[in-house]
This record gives sequence, structure tokens and C-alpha cells, in this order.
Amino acid sequence: MALAARLWRFLPWARGVFPGPWLLRGVAGSRGLCCTWRLRGLEVMGNLGTFKRSLLFSAVPYLGFEAYQVFSQAAVVHATAKVFRVEEILEQADYLYESGETEKLYQLLTQYKESEDAELLWRLARASRDTAQLSGTSEEEKKLLVYEALEYAKRALEKNESSFAAHKWYAICMSDVGDYEGIKAKIANAYIIKEHFEKAIELNPKDATSIHLMGIWCYTFAEMPWYQRRIAKMLFATPPSSTYEEALGYFHRAEQVDPNFYSKNLLLLGKTYLKLHNKKLAAFWLMKAKDYPAHTEEDKQIQTEAAQLLTGFTDKN
Ligand SMILES: *[C@@H]1O[C@H](CO)[C@@H](O)[C@H](O)[C@H]1NC(C)=O
Repeated sequence: MALAARLWRFLPWARGVFPGPWLLRGVAGSRGLCCTWRLRGLEVMGNLGTFKRSLLFSAVPYLGFEAYQVFSQAAVVHATAKVFRVEEILEQADYLYESGETEKLYQLLTQYKESEDAELLWRLARASRDTAQLSGTSEEEKKLLVYEALEYAKRALEKNESSFAAHKWYAICMSDVGDYEGIKAKIANAYIIKEHFEKAIELNPKDATSIHLMGIWCYTFAEMPWYQRRIAKMLFATPPSSTYEEALGYFHRAEQVDPNFYSKNLLLLGKTYLKLHNKKLAAFWLMKAKDYPAHTEEDKQIQTEAAQLLTGFTDKN
């Protein structure tokens, strides 16, 4: 299952209340390749510094998942072994994540759901939401899983307020439950989501994906039509709002931090410039999005959308 694509499949904070293009909806069943690895690498390295290590030192650890399970269940937990064990579980979890083994990853991590370890808990949150997004997951299961994911993310945050990944996944999971919440809760959540993305960026200014997601947040609220704004205003004195300029700032910043990390960031740079009536720069970024080597289904969709937008406005010229 796609990794990056799964990551982006959210944005329900706006769904229904603020219908519009599904900016973060990827395609189920697509496979995350190149950029995914980079995203993952960033996340893990930024966080633990173990990503590289695990690649270098433990060509091992993949005993095979079943063997590993037996092994891990048999392991005795005592004080010193415990630290070592968490690291080992994380290593195994990261391996499964890299391999796109969503269900196995979820199976592995739910065994440790009582853990107090923030690193383990945010990974469990991520695995739960990824499982929720699988095409084989029923609607009922999905709902349970997204709430479960939010709960794990919340606990990860409680355990470690300085983990950028915990903030990021809390924001993402909160946005997922938006599907099941009323309008008012959704708008209220939008503030919280923003807060946590901001915190994630503050804690790790090198995480291009959090920065990109902030850009998406701004774009969504900049794009909100007047009648939706009115509804929001009836419910909240200061409803969430943003501008295309602000969104642009984030997309550029993400690009600076990690150039070409994600086709959608390029597309959104183009689209935001279009909104700002700067056709020259819009064309520049849309070309880049169109020429981005497609590794995932989502990349392909982005190429198509970029190409369509490009023909659209050259026709008008
Ligand atoms: C919390 O997370 C930060 C960043 O990942 C890390 O440096 C710190 O050691 C963690 N604190 C605890 C108590 O685990």
C-alpha cells in the first residue's frame, strides 16, 4: 500500500462543511516509492536518528514477521531489556512501514498499545489510520480505527510533548475523525490541527511534509467560499481563515527544506500562483509538477492535473 499516498489522504476537516477539491486525497492502492522513502527517512532520522543505523546495522532484523512475533512474545521484559526492546520494535515497525506492510505493522504495534513510549505510540496511530484507509476495511472498522488512531496520537503527545511526529500525527488523525463529526466540531478541530502542525514545524523545521500540510491548511481556508465563511462565522467569532499568500509561503518553504520532495507541493505552488493571477510563475511550477517522475498513482494524477491546468490557461492567452 502506498505510503506517501496514504499519508496525504486526509483533509476531512474541511469535508462537507467546506467542499472543494480534495487536496490531500490520494489513491487507494497506489504504491509509495521514491519520495516516500525520503519522507520516511526524514521523519525517522529527524526523530530518532535510527533510520540510517537500522539500514546499516541491521540487515538482520527482518527475521520474517512470524518468527519475529514468536521471538518478541518470548522475550522477557525486565528493566534493561525493556529499552532495548522498544528500539527493536521500532526498528521492526519501520521496516514494515517501508515495505508497505500496513496490516502486519498494525498487528505488531497493537500488541504494545499499552506502551508508554511516544515513539511507539505515534507509529501505532499512523498504522491505525493507514489500516483504516485500506480498501478492504469496512466502514464500521474504519470509523473505529480512525478514533483509535486519534487516541494513540493523543497518548503519544501526552508522553512526549516535544516529539514533532506526535504533533504531526495528532493533527492528521484529528483531521481524519472530521469525517464523523458535526460542522461545529470540525471547525473547532481546524484550529487544533493548525496548532499542532505549527508545533511540529517548530520542533522540526526540516520536516517538509508538516510544512506542506500547513500550506494545504491555508490553501483550504483561503479557498473557502463566502457562504461557507458565513456559516463558520455564525458558529465562531473568528472562524479559521487564511490567504493564498500565506499558503504560498509554506509551499515555498517546504520546497526550500527539501526540493522536489513531493509532486503535490509543486502542483500546489502552481495552483496558488494561479489564484494569485501570476501566470508566469504558475506555469513554472505546473511544468515542474507535470514533469515530475511518477512513482505513485498520486504522482500520475498530479501530472495529469498539472497538464490540464497548463492547457487551460495557455488557451486563454
Ligand atoms: C521526546 O522527544 C524528543 C524528540 O524526539 C527527544 O529528544 C526526547 O528525548 C523525548 N523525551 C522523552 C522523555 O522520551
